[in-house]
Amino acid sequence: MVIYGPLTPGQVSFFLGIVPVFAAWLYSEYLECKKNSSFSKQGRDSDINLVELGGAVKEDDRAVLLEGGGLQAASPRVRNSSVTSHVFRFLTLDESFLLENRLTLRAISEFGALLIYFYICDRTNLLGESKKSYNRDLFLFLYFLLIIVSAITSFKIHNDKSPFSGKSIMYLNRHQTEEWKGWMQVLFLMYHYFAATEIYNAIRVFIAAYVWMTGFGNFSYYYIRKDFSLARFIQMMWRLNFLVLFCCIVLNNNYTLYYICPMHTLFTLMVYGALGIFNKYNEHGTVIAAKILACFLVVILIWEVPGVFELFWSPFTFLLGYTDPAAKVELPLLHEWHFRSGLDRYIWIIGMIYAYYHPTVERWMEKLEEAEIKRRISIKAIIVIISLTIGYLWVEYIYKLPKITYNKYHPYTSWIPITVYICLRNVTQHLRCYTLTLFAWLGKITLETYISQIHIWLRSGLPDGQPKLLLSLIPNYPLLNFMLTTSIYIAVSYRLFELTNTLKMAFIPSKDNKHLGHNLAAGVVIASILYVLAFVLLRVPQMTV
Ligand SMILES: *[C@@H]1O[C@H](CO)[C@@H](O)[C@H](O)[C@H]1NC(C)=O
Ligand SMILES: *[C@@H]1O[C@H](CO)[C@@H](O)[C@H](O)[C@H]1NC(C)=O
Repeated sequence: MVIYGPLTPGQVSFFLGIVPVFAAWLYSEYLECKKNSSFSKQGRDSDINLVELGGAVKEDDRAVLLEGGGLQAASPRVRNSSVTSHVFRFLTLDESFLLENRLTLRAISEFGALLIYFYICDRTNLLGESKKSYNRDLFLFLYFLLIIVSAITSFKIHNDKSPFSGKSIMYLNRHQTEEWKGWMQVLFLMYHYFAATEIYNAIRVFIAAYVWMTGFGNFSYYYIRKDFSLARFIQMMWRLNFLVLFCCIVLNNNYTLYYICPMHTLFTLMVYGALGIFNKYNEHGTVIAAKILACFLVVILIWEVPGVFELFWSPFTFLLGYTDPAAKVELPLLHEWHFRSGLDRYIWIIGMIYAYYHPTVERWMEKLEEAEIKRRISIKAIIVIISLTIGYLWVEYIYKLPKITYNKYHPYTSWIPITVYICLRNVTQHLRCYTLTLFAWLGKITLETYISQIHIWLRSGLPDGQPKLLLSLIPNYPLLNFMLTTSIYIAVSYRLFELTNTLKMAFIPSKDNKHLGHNLAAGVVIASILYVLAFVLLRVPQMTV
């Protein structure tokens, strides 16, 4: 077995951390079995009792699983005890502690095992690799096949009520945004898999659309719910960065290799900041207008004024610096970050503006639906014609530009195709309620599919490498291999999505800031101890030689 790249202290500390958890989990499963069998022994005299008890245990497990494995839900006792006593009980293999936290231990073990699979796929030569090849016919065939399959199996009409009006209008509803994310994500991933460079410009628009949704979704959330609590903030950061953090550690990669993550984190923080500062005054239209104007000014200052970007971001170089090991020319460390974050620098603000006017537009659309038929149809026809014309002009004059020129115009024009899509997608009430749930399902796990593609579907082969190759489990059968690796990859991504959520529930209590602080401190302390230990361990062979 060949390992690409030297072992790092981060990797060793991950290993040191995961092994005891794995052992403790196995032991807790053993304890659980023992407990259950002793239950059944006791209950042998009365069958009813046995059934009830067995059922109760199962129900309990299921409840915990459904809630995402919240420890607190399972055992109120745990909440009161301190973090140090948790660690102590873990180290001494306290039986009741292990039983209480069996599901969390299981989740951590599974998460660790999946990351080890990442490592095996991408950093060793145990599994094969193959070259990418593009064939437009095959590419489109696969994509349309997926659309047909999802139309047949998962076409769904939603009749949910609008949160604003109570009518079933559903303008910009969740199903739709998730479906939108889903179909874009499939194209985005297939673009990577088949190296479909001819749709490069479209991919840029899709990423802009994700960032638009970040602005839209987060603005609506904070504007309506007004929940700026620490717990909510940490949960959001966890959702965006938990998996990517561990991928960086285990695979020795830089954060910016997964540029979507820092980008969404940045823009989420900006929306949070924009609404959070002086949030008491968010009711006033002028305050919101001033805030949005301030967002534009900040972006113009940082991205448009020469030199400010480097000055502002240079303290964060350790986090955001990146060099492609295969690059021929030496570029500044922040170049990749400048390029990626710059492409979508305005679109999140546009998303915020759309979110702000969302209720107004919704009310207007409601009126339109109630208008007499002739008027309604003519207004809609005008909207469709205008949208199509603008869309056509955009395709002709912007989209068809070569990649480098297109990128120059992209930040100022990406709102055009997004707006056109939104108008067309919602033009009739029927079209608004229909979604393909298969795409919506894929839209939920976009973050995980984005991160794991680099390692278990494609292959980068070395730290910080761009995924230039494909993972090959069935050599010489490219299509079969595509099918197999894709199935594993989607399943793993889905599990990672669930595990991220399970562990979030387990470690981030939503109401108890003191407990949250303790958990964070404990996390930092444990990570530091493991790191120091790993660092020393890696030094030992050098010293003895
Ligand atoms: C239109 O479609 C988009 C994308 O699916 C969706 O998110 C939104 O609900 C709709 N908005 C309008 C203007 O009807
Ligand atoms: C905020 O944006 C992030 C990044 O796109 C997203 O994952 C999250 O769901 C958004 N939050 C809300 C409440 O929409």
